[in-house]
Order: sequence, then structure tokens, then C-alpha cells
Amino acid sequence: MILIVDDDVAVRTSLGLLLKQAGYPARGVATPEEALQVVQAAPPRLVLMDMNFSLDTSGQDGLALLGQVKRLAPALPVVLITGWGSIALAVEGMKAGAAEFVTKPWHNDSLLQTIRTVLSLHEPEPETDLGTLSRRQLDKQYNFQGIVGQNAQLLHVLRNVGQVAATDASVLIEGESGTGKELIAEAVHQNSQRRRQPFVKVNLGGISASLFESEMFGHRRGAFTDAKTDRVGRFELANGGTIFLDEVGELDVGSQVKLLRVLQDRTYEVLGDSKPRRLDIRVICATNRNLADMVQQGRFREDLFYRINLITVRLPALRERPQDIPLLVQHFVDSLRATYNRPALKVGTRALHWLQEQPLPGNIRELKNLVERAVLVSGKDELGPEDFQAQFQRQPARSTETGELPEPGTVTLDELEAQMIRRTLEHYGGNISRVAKALGLSRGALYRRLEKYAIPFDAE
Ligand SMILES: Nc1ncnc2c1ncn2[C@@H]1O[C@H](COP(=O)(O)OP(=O)(O)OP(=O)(O)O)[C@@H](O)[C@H]1O
Ligand SMILES: [Mg+2]
Repeated sequence: MILIVDDDVAVRTSLGLLLKQAGYPARGVATPEEALQVVQAAPPRLVLMDMNFSLDTSGQDGLALLGQVKRLAPALPVVLITGWGSIALAVEGMKAGAAEFVTKPWHNDSLLQTIRTVLSLHEPEPETDLGTLSRRQLDKQYNFQGIVGQNAQLLHVLRNVGQVAATDASVLIEGESGTGKELIAEAVHQNSQRRRQPFVKVNLGGISASLFESEMFGHRRGAFTDAKTDRVGRFELANGGTIFLDEVGELDVGSQVKLLRVLQDRTYEVLGDSKPRRLDIRVICATNRNLADMVQQGRFREDLFYRINLITVRLPALRERPQDIPLLVQHFVDSLRATYNRPALKVGTRALHWLQEQPLPGNIRELKNLVERAVLVSGKDELGPEDFQAQFQRQPARSTETGELPEPGTVTLDELEAQMIRRTLEHYGGNISRVAKALGLSRGALYRRLEKYAIPFDAE
């Protein structure tokens, strides 16, 4: 049974009807006292609660009730309903243990979607004890093709991904650059009901604030001076499927609120066309920043943070999983062997050990590039440590001799970073792809830094 708490009888009736039609028996109550009685006597599967259910519109009663429900039944999921204007209240509620929030006026479909998602996260399939699945068992149950690794933290990530993929829950993927965030995002989509629908990647770090709306929502011809033709927005392209919002931490505050609105209402308007359109979409975000810190610093909206991180997956850095380095190297060599038709290609044991001891701050991307370069440059069939070492030494940034670094107190990290980027640009004649590779950055991340430090470059 789903418990509806709302003092408005019309709301109770319409929600009750909606839930019953969707196959969820429901019961409505008008006051906190009744709600607590029900929770004690016959705990529901879920509580749907209006935060402003009394004359007191501050929502304090709602928060108090939420607290009491959580004390009585800590595992019972509570979904809050708030007005758009009181979204700060919803954020308070999330901190106090609510599972999700929905803003008024709600759309029936998205409300049901939220309820299904929250229930499936709180009531996982009983027959599988995911906590212990080994890599082999995981591979039997899910499609994790192309994701190499057996490290415990990675397996934890894969179990999580397997479990939440089938729901429509929004997933936030955190991890340093090159740890495989995009690969994991694809795995979520591939293991979901939406796998045959589009998977659309958007690098939010590469979209300027002024173009955000036209990129994401699309525009009609003539909507603004430069709109010479109609443009289909990314949300529309992804409709029915999954949208992957990469580098979400780079979004400026103005665009954050626009994104929040779409994710909240599941409707959007194409620029130059005021007809609102419905969206049916799964959202996956990724970032190499610490969004919780950014929220603390006021640089990322807290309500948006809660909207996108129903599930958070943290990818370990490569240095946290050195056991996986040989497996990864073998994997990359296997594919090079096939690509270049060199059946005798292999990496010696000593080289594998040596690679395991390298810091590799660019993580898996750096390792992959390193293997590729070593194979191509050495031309040998069996690679030894010296072949990889030679590639390391060619990268100027790799020097660890303190004599080559400026004296402490004379330069900030930002200045050092800007200098290094300039030098690498020069070294590679302005070739952005190669500069990004050499610096262990994605192209998007490099572009952002070039803009940040106002370093001139040729766009490719
Ligand atoms: N577990 C893995 N097994 C095999 N290859 C991997 C794995 N993880 C990442 N890779 C490869 O490493 C490269 C970087 O991965 P990916 O682009 O997913 O990283 P990312 O975290 O999105 O990086 P960035 O933050 O720089 O965008 C890709 O070529 C990807 O295929
Ligand atoms: Mg990426």
C-alpha cells in the first residue's frame, strides 16, 4: 500500500485514483497524526507526502512529519511533493532522508515513473544477493563488455550499475579524468530497458552559456538572429532513451537552473516555439569534480545536485586498483594485435610489473595511450619496460626532479598549469588532440583550460 498524506481531499482522491489505476493500492490521510498511526500499524511500501499539508506554509510540519516517519521506519521511502517555489524545502527534505521529491503541479506519468524507480531501488529483486557476485557471475547477468577489471571497488561499481540500470533512476558518475566514466554511462544504458533507444552524449563543458538553450532544447528558424534553420535539441534527440550529461560540474549557474527545470518538469520548449513538449528520458551525469564541495561553495545548485544523484557511482582511480593494470594492458594489446595484424605482439612480465608501479595520473586513458605509443614506436613483438619508459621520458611533464620545478612560494598551481599547457601546445604545433593526450586530458577539459587561461589556440 502507498500512503498519501495531504490535507486537500481533492489531491488525495486524484492521487489515490492514479495510483490504483497503475496497480498500487493506496490510502489517503489528512493529518500527521493519522499518517504516523498508519506507519506504525501497517507500514506502507512508500509514503507520498505533500510538504505544505497544513495552513502553515513554511513546510516545517512536513519536515517534522518526515523526521518522525524516518524514526519509526528508517527504510520506508518517502517521496515529497512541493511547490516549485519551495524547492529549497525539498532539498531540506532530501537531507532529512526523503527518497525523492516531485514538484507541483505534477505530471501523472513522471510521478508514476518516480514511484516505480524509488520502489525498485528500495525493494531489489530478492533472488540475487548482489553483494557477493563475482566478475564472472556479473558477466552472466549483465552486459559489461569492454569494461576490464576485477578490483573490489570496480566490482562494487558494476554491481551497482547492474542493479540500478533497469530502473529509471538518475545516476551520477564521479571519478578522475580517464577512469572510465563514459564507459560506465554506456553500460547503464546498455543494461536498461532503453537500450534500443538513443544514447545521446552531451559535453556540458563544451557548451557556452549563451548557446545552452539552443543546443539542448533546439530552436526554430528565426528564433534569434543566427538561427538560419531549425535545429533539433539534444533532449529531443535523446527522447525515449538516455541522455549523458558529461562534465556537469562545468555548467554555469544560469544554465543549471534551466537544466533543473527540464529534469524537474520533464517538459521543455524549443526556442521560438512556445508549445511545451514532453520528455521521456533517463539522465546520467558525470563529473571529475567534487560536486558536494561545489554545492558547499555555492557553485553548484543544491536542488540540481539532488535531482541528478539519486544514485552515485564513484570510479576508483587507477592507482587505487594497480592489480587491474596487467589486465588492462593485455586488453589493449589484444585489440592492437588485431588492428595492426601483428599476431606475435605481447608485453613481457617485467614490463607489466614496471607499469604497475607508475603513478599514471591520467588513469586508464593515459595507460591506453602509453601502450599504443610504445607498440607503435618500438615496433617490437615483445615489449619490455624500456619501451614504455622511453615513451614516458618523451613527455616533458613527467620530470620528477625537483630542480626543474620553480621554488615553492614563487608560482601558483594555476600558473604552472597554464605554463605547461603553453609548452605542450608549442611542442605539438597546436595539435589539440595530441596536446590533450599528452596532458592526460579529454579535449573538452583541455578546451576549458585554454579558455580559462585565455591561451590562444586553433579550433580543429
Ligand atoms: N575498465 C576499463 N576497461 C577497458 N578500458 C577502459 C576501462 N575504463 C576506461 N577505459 C578506456 O579508457 C579511456 C578513457 O575512458 P573514459 O573516456 O570512459 O574516461 P572518462 O572518465 O570519461 O574520462 P574524462 O573525465 O577524461 O572524460 C577510453 O578509451 C575507455 O575505453
Ligand atoms: Mg569522459
